Amino acid sequence: MGRTCGTAYDWLIVTPVTVRVPAKVNLQLSVGPRRDDGYHDLITVFHAVSLFDEVSVRPAERTSVRVTGQDAASIPSSRANLAARAARALAASLRRREKSAVQIEIRKRIPVSAGLAGGSADAAAALVACNELWGAGLSQAELREVGAGVGSDVPFALLGGTAVGQGRGERLTPALATGTYHWVLAFASGGLSTPEVYAACDRLREARADAVEVPAGVTAGAARAAGTAAGAGTSAGPEAPNPTLSTELMAALRSGDPAAVGPLLSNDLQAAAVSLRPDLRRALTEGLELGALGAIVSGSGPTCAFLAANARHARELAVGLTSAGVCRGAVRVQGPAGGAAIIAADRA
Ligand code: C5P
Repeated sequence: MGRTCGTAYDWLIVTPVTVRVPAKVNLQLSVGPRRDDGYHDLITVFHAVSLFDEVSVRPAERTSVRVTGQDAASIPSSRANLAARAARALAASLRRREKSAVQIEIRKRIPVSAGLAGGSADAAAALVACNELWGAGLSQAELREVGAGVGSDVPFALLGGTAVGQGRGERLTPALATGTYHWVLAFASGGLSTPEVYAACDRLREARADAVEVPAGVTAGAARAAGTAAGAGTSAGPEAPNPTLSTELMAALRSGDPAAVGPLLSNDLQAAAVSLRPDLRRALTEGLELGALGAIVSGSGPTCAFLAANARHARELAVGLTSAGVCRGAVRVQGPAGGAAIIAADRA
């Protein structure tokens, strides 16, 4: 796209750069203990799906954000918007002081606070778009580093495909996955706050650990630390062991067989999301009754993701879930989808 020549900054570029960026679901989301910085160590398997936002940037006198489409009214159009933060973070990492203001336009199809990483997706798109607009020439790996400072899911929105995430989710390794997966995403009315879902997860674990009988004179905390109460198993307390990658899931993904993948989907945040939104249980049950190969809350929810056997089954599932009234709407998507990519960047 030839914006990287030395004089590019001096050229008058009036047409915007537009980037398309996918939503994600987590095929595995294993949550470890809360860290001192408030985050949780994760092992997760990200999977990008074909539900896309589009983000356009163009030079401006001062930075502004305009949002149209799905849930537009509930998205900040101020400096707090993740896409604006990403543009500032990139300018800072480039030490670019002049001409770094941009007009950002976000056309949203990914619902907000839905567990689909829509905000992170827009941040990733802004990074790719500004990198192009400014002729900065950063590699995707370099953009991922900048993106990690903006949000834990931003690096994956840049990479796309299917990938294992570690740390906060920002350390990525592409996964060996074959085949195309047909999903139905069932949207809930209203959203869930990610920090609140993680906090609910901690509370549930704490309550479970405290419910375990401890010998007289031993505090529940001491028992946990000694590994006698909740130290073992995947539903452990705040001192939970570090999570591990499901080798069964990785083998199923390599085989490309959705019937093998479906039963192996897992999400440690699901119980927390359902505790905050008990209506999600109905959607999950309904999907399984309609023959979904797997049914799971996506990320921190409240969107539920259903794995279908094929495109036709996905159509039936979407119709069934919608007519059962267990969601505000359902869309069919496919995965894996590619990461944030430029779709238009004409020079004037
Ligand atoms: O990184 P991001 O801003 O997307 O994270 C939003 C919130 O989700 C964090 O403030 C934290 O409460 C929670 N979170 C977490 N552990 C992670 C990722 C996110 O606790 N690995």
